[in-house]
Amino acid sequence: VAMDTREYIVERLRTGAWISGEVVSDALGISRAAVSKHIAALRAAGCEIASASRKGYRLVSEPDRLVREAVAPYLDTLVVGREWHYEAQVSSTNALAREAALRGASEGAVFVADEQVGGRGRRGREWVSPPGCGIYVSVLLRPQLPPDALPLLTLMAAVAVVRAIADVGAGEARIKWPNDILLGGHKVCGILTEMVADAESLACVILGIGLNVNTPPELLPERPLFPAGSLASVAGRRLPRARLLARLLNALDEGYAELIEQGGRPMLAAWEARSDLVGRRVSVARVNDTVTGVAEGLDSSGALVIRTDSGERQLILSGDISYCR
Ligand code: BTN
Repeated sequence: VAMDTREYIVERLRTGAWISGEVVSDALGISRAAVSKHIAALRAAGCEIASASRKGYRLVSEPDRLVREAVAPYLDTLVVGREWHYEAQVSSTNALAREAALRGASEGAVFVADEQVGGRGRRGREWVSPPGCGIYVSVLLRPQLPPDALPLLTLMAAVAVVRAIADVGAGEARIKWPNDILLGGHKVCGILTEMVADAESLACVILGIGLNVNTPPELLPERPLFPAGSLASVAGRRLPRARLLARLLNALDEGYAELIEQGGRPMLAAWEARSDLVGRRVSVARVNDTVTGVAEGLDSSGALVIRTDSGERQLILSGDISYCR
């Protein structure tokens, strides 16, 4: 509740005009004292807010740092973000999370960096991660789930990203199997899930998410099929990283709890609804071969179901997909 109140206040202030405390308290049905408490919390989070008697409040500048204090006002999670590790520059947040996992970091630990100099993508590719532009985050989970539920966690993360993008008003993104997020036909986000087994063989999972938020397109690599883009380049305006990260972690926290309590079914339905895959003719390049056919959807384990030209039903767990015409 406090989170939505604060977001509402920031949203109102974002017009740049003076807004009186009275207007805010009337609109929200809270006291003037409560309004000034929220203003104080926002200032503590790094918002520069001018105040003047009779005029009220005015937003001078908003921080866009990903330190805990900047994100916490919008965070509404039980597990994700209990532990917070922020670094200005790292090699890779997934690598950081892996080391911490082996040292016993707790479930839900978040590793976020302003810049990655060794950001990694799937299949050994590089993930371009310039400073101040994107969200580079890894979340450590210690799921009480069978190991074959791993693909479900990745799919869940993709749904969470799409929700977060919609939540900040940047548009309706789509998921390209297994876990690329496309906005306006551009790849704006990638997910790299990794497993860690420590000495006690308690497996833990690292969900690594890279989101191009305000990244200038000229810094992004050229990709042949689905060109790389950023939310800002597609949405046409800069987006607040801290709020987007909070929305993402909120959605992950909720999605993770749902997966554990209700199994994969609701998540798989949500995934399919956000993908443009079903019914499409696709071609999946695997390590040793390529499978071509019509995508029928996901099975209960999260595998892609393809009906090949010879009428065979193939289950695919990993590969690079392209859409055929
Ligand atoms: C892909 O689409 O190939 C996956 C990209 C995943 C990038 C993220 S950024 C945070 C985390 N740390 C990394 O080194 N990679 C992931």
